[in-house]
Amino acid sequence: MSFVEYSDLVRDGDVAIVYMGHESMMPVKVRQGAQTQTRYGVIRHSSDLIGRRYGSKVTCSKGGWVHVLHPTPELWTVNLPHRTQILYSTDIATITMMLELKPGAVVCESGTGSGSLSHAILRSIAPSGHLHTVEFHQQRAEKAAEEFKEHQVDRLVTVRNQDVCKDGFGVTGVADAVFLDIPSPWEAVRHAKTAMKRRGGRLCSFSPCIEQVQRTCEALVDQGFQELSTLEVLLRVHDVRTVYLPLPDFGPDAEADIVDGDGAKTAPQASVCLKATNLPREMPGHTGYLTFATKPRT
Ligand SMILES: C[S@@+](CC[C@H](N)C(=O)[O-])C[C@H]1O[C@@H](n2cnc3c(N)ncnc32)[C@H](O)[C@@H]1O
Repeated sequence: MSFVEYSDLVRDGDVAIVYMGHESMMPVKVRQGAQTQTRYGVIRHSSDLIGRRYGSKVTCSKGGWVHVLHPTPELWTVNLPHRTQILYSTDIATITMMLELKPGAVVCESGTGSGSLSHAILRSIAPSGHLHTVEFHQQRAEKAAEEFKEHQVDRLVTVRNQDVCKDGFGVTGVADAVFLDIPSPWEAVRHAKTAMKRRGGRLCSFSPCIEQVQRTCEALVDQGFQELSTLEVLLRVHDVRTVYLPLPDFGPDAEADIVDGDGAKTAPQASVCLKATNLPREMPGHTGYLTFATKPRT
């Protein structure tokens, strides 16, 4: 198993996602002889997981069942142990597209945080790209490096424990794209420029406050970046539901006139059944602003 390649079978040492229904999931480190407690009873790794196909339904000791899923960056984002605030798939999807990430790309990122975005970047740039990720909190940097190893993506990533605003990304002239998720991104813009290829590339900075965006944009313009744009991604989910509408009463002869879509006569009905969508009354609000810019060829 690797977070960037699919395998059919669960193996000893994998990180699998155990799905218990109704959006309830947990990551499980699969180990010969180990057990995991779920609300449906125990899962015995040796007999219930190892050697089974990903996607299988596994019966637990109390008779209930769960599904064992192959890990993906999207599933990791909703299951990872939080060390920090993280980016979610709605922002991540826009970031990976607008940074033009593709297999073979070299990316610089700071801070690593809980590694939510890092996993999505790694899948986009595999099998031959590289991620240089910088985190100044020592335990977070160490934990991220440990997880990358467990998820078998460590050959694609270098974790540096340093202050990106003071010491930069530790590389020069190699990056196709840079991503910043730190409180003072304007202090890292010149280091981003140094890390990027001479032929140019794309930069993105995530900030919750518009004042941070303003300062970052000023630094980007000072450093010669072009095509600045800032956007906010809001997810609006439409709830589909079934509604029954009473038929109007057109009088005693009206029944004869009820026809279906093909023009055939149908039995009289008291109501019609329709599918309708409900817009949410409240939307989960603002996460942050995404500022994109292009470094031109120098
Ligand atoms: C919000 S978290 C990043 C979350 C990450 N994007 C994710 O999706 O999991 C911000 C991280 O930046 C780190 N950080 C803040 N300032 C930094 C700096 N100057 N250099 C390196 N890391 C920094 C913090 O320690 C924190 O872990």
